[in-house]
Amino acid sequence: MKAVVVDRYVENYGELRVSEVAKPKAKDDEILIQVKAAGVNFVDTLYARGLHQNNRRHIKPPFTLGLEFAGLVLSSPTTSPFRPGDGVFGAYAGSYSEYIVLPSSYPVYRVPPSWSYAEAAGIAATLPVSYGALSLPGVLKPGSTVLVHAAAGGLGLAAVQICSALGYRVFGTAGSAAKCRLAGFFGAEACIDYEADPRWWDRVVSLTDGNGVDVVFDSVGLVEQSIKCLAHRGRALVVGFAGRNRENLEKVAMNRVLLKQASLIGYRFGETGRRYPHETTIIWEALLPLIKSGRIKPAVYDREYRDLGSVPRALEHVASRKVWGKAVILIDDDASRQRASL
Ligand SMILES: NC(=O)c1ccc[n+]([C@@H]2O[C@H](COP(=O)([O-])OP(=O)(O)OC[C@H]3O[C@@H](n4cnc5c(N)ncnc54)[C@H](OP(=O)(O)O)[C@@H]3O)[C@@H](O)[C@H]2O)c1
Repeated sequence: MKAVVVDRYVENYGELRVSEVAKPKAKDDEILIQVKAAGVNFVDTLYARGLHQNNRRHIKPPFTLGLEFAGLVLSSPTTSPFRPGDGVFGAYAGSYSEYIVLPSSYPVYRVPPSWSYAEAAGIAATLPVSYGALSLPGVLKPGSTVLVHAAAGGLGLAAVQICSALGYRVFGTAGSAAKCRLAGFFGAEACIDYEADPRWWDRVVSLTDGNGVDVVFDSVGLVEQSIKCLAHRGRALVVGFAGRNRENLEKVAMNRVLLKQASLIGYRFGETGRRYPHETTIIWEALLPLIKSGRIKPAVYDREYRDLGSVPRALEHVASRKVWGKAVILIDDDASRQRASL
């Protein structure tokens, strides 16, 4: 079978190759899944180059790239809730692969009946991250206003949808007017193109009648500027640094934190799952009803990435900020029935 195996870290995504590897065999207590589609993540761009903190410990060459999948159950033990023929999705390190094998106790979820595999493929390493951060104790309070940076990105659009579904006023920033329109479609009350408006924080202050927002969801690396439009005793959720690299990691002037009595709260989903697995269970118990009721919808980027050979192109597009929502690799022809469009 084919898989995108990283034998050594690359400098350019074009160096990534599709390898021929042995098809995995399921043991008695394992599920064999044919991967139909795989979500593309910013984290894949870091893993491929060995730049993620997990590359120091958990993920080292050789490894198969990819973090999310949706696929067809081919075989399962009788103890599993899934039968051959069921469509499932989940988070799995190594999803850029035609087949994967998982322990029957591994957390996978049924593809909602109205969703295609492509739509379900970009959910499991994205949506629970945003939900996990936003649901940390004390972050959202009744009536909270929220500002989501990169509101059309993977984590950002998920955060917008979660806040909107839970009834909070949510504002966004994004790098183009088109991305802002998308954030608005998915629930942002207003979205500011921060490329066109370099003093976006002033707009946020005026949108909130001079108060500023109670919560900032930051996956870009904009905490210091965000404090300018944070309400007194507001909370800044630090979930990522897509706009930064090792050389220009954000440093925040602590006098600003003190003056605003702000709280800076870091969140790391993978580490949460390793240290406090019950929290991941709680996150999914909250998310699945939102998905089933249609209050959270998939948002698949409308450029087509067909078969594993398109992984380098997709990663290039993520790194160069072309992608909105989730780019998805279609590994099998019937993975896609429908698309969201901008
Ligand atoms: N804390 C966790 O557990 C966790 C989990 C997953 C990911 N992350 C991190 O969260 C961040 C976002 O991940 P994601 O999956 O949402 O990524 P994504 O879908 O690629 O979205 C990132 C967005 O950031 C904006 N951006 C600004 N400057 C950028 C730059 N120089 N390069 C690329 N994008 C830039 C882009 O939106 P605009 O064009 O609108 O600015 C882009 O759409 C990453 O740093 C990732 O490593 C953290």
